[in-house]
Amino acid sequence: MARVEGALSEWVPADAPAGLGLAMRYAVLDGGKRLRPLLVLAASEAVIGHPQAAMRAACAVELIHAYSLVHDDMPCMDNDVLRRGKPTVHVKFGQAQALLAGDALQALAFELLAPEGNDIPASVQARLCRLLAQSAGHAGMAGGQAIDLASVGQVLTEAQLREMHRRKTGALLEASVMMGAACAQPSPLALAGLQAYGQALGLAFQVVDDILDVTSDSATLGKTPGKDAAQDKPTYVSLLGLARSRAFARELLDQALVALASTGLANTRALQALALMVVNRDN
Ligand code: IPE
Ligand code: IPE
Ligand code: MG
Ligand code: MG
Ligand code: MG
Repeated sequence: MARVEGALSEWVPADAPAGLGLAMRYAVLDGGKRLRPLLVLAASEAVIGHPQAAMRAACAVELIHAYSLVHDDMPCMDNDVLRRGKPTVHVKFGQAQALLAGDALQALAFELLAPEGNDIPASVQARLCRLLAQSAGHAGMAGGQAIDLASVGQVLTEAQLREMHRRKTGALLEASVMMGAACAQPSPLALAGLQAYGQALGLAFQVVDDILDVTSDSATLGKTPGKDAAQDKPTYVSLLGLARSRAFARELLDQALVALASTGLANTRALQALALMVVNRDN
């Protein structure tokens, strides 16, 4: 985690014009669990991946995540004023700067994945870009966010809710695992197990996010709780209630751990620990 913090601080520029760099650094640094970068590094460790590629991928996925939070909090989306225990980017820097900071972080993510020189094979760079683009765009996060906004006030079926969560949150978490894996060439068996792990963990993550929105407080969470019910968003808690949502999260954790065991990889300790953290976290 310390290496991730250092790399992010090095790569997110302070000197972008007209205060843009300040807004970008504010959005990325000092806060966040760094779950996605840790998943990249843990998956890369499991497959014995290329270390520089893994650190670039770890930071790139966190930049996409940070950008998605900046936009998610804006008045036209969830209209939130607190994030990672601080005022949101648009509250601090204005809406136009928040929009641009998100745009610039997204671009920077892909720049990080395609450095000059031959340290990282071009085929690995291309694979990392493809995985990140697919998980951030219409098939993933942006598409899921569109469903989220269109679903306000609606009662979704479990299948529809699962699909929304898979895209808006699960896709980037699954991509974190797959990008770590893409830093080496694991066997098809290992890759399939890692993908199933990432999918189960990705859904578990958003189920727990839905639970914490109901059960936690703003000091612990670093964001305003109670927003989902206040904005009439369909969530696992609104669909299943708290007890069944908790049971479902534990079921998904079991699925993730079974999938991990099926990879046949020797060193999956960090991936195991991260799955436990996702389900047992309180923020
Ligand atoms: C929050 O993600 C947004 C969702 C995708 C639900 P995290 O809970 O990982 O937020 P940080 O990065 O720790 O702030
Ligand atoms: C956001 O989901 C998912 C993103 C793609 C950013 P939420 O809207 O539930 O995330 P929080 O609760 O604001 O962090
Ligand atoms: Mg949202
Ligand atoms: Mg939100
Ligand atoms: Mg939420």
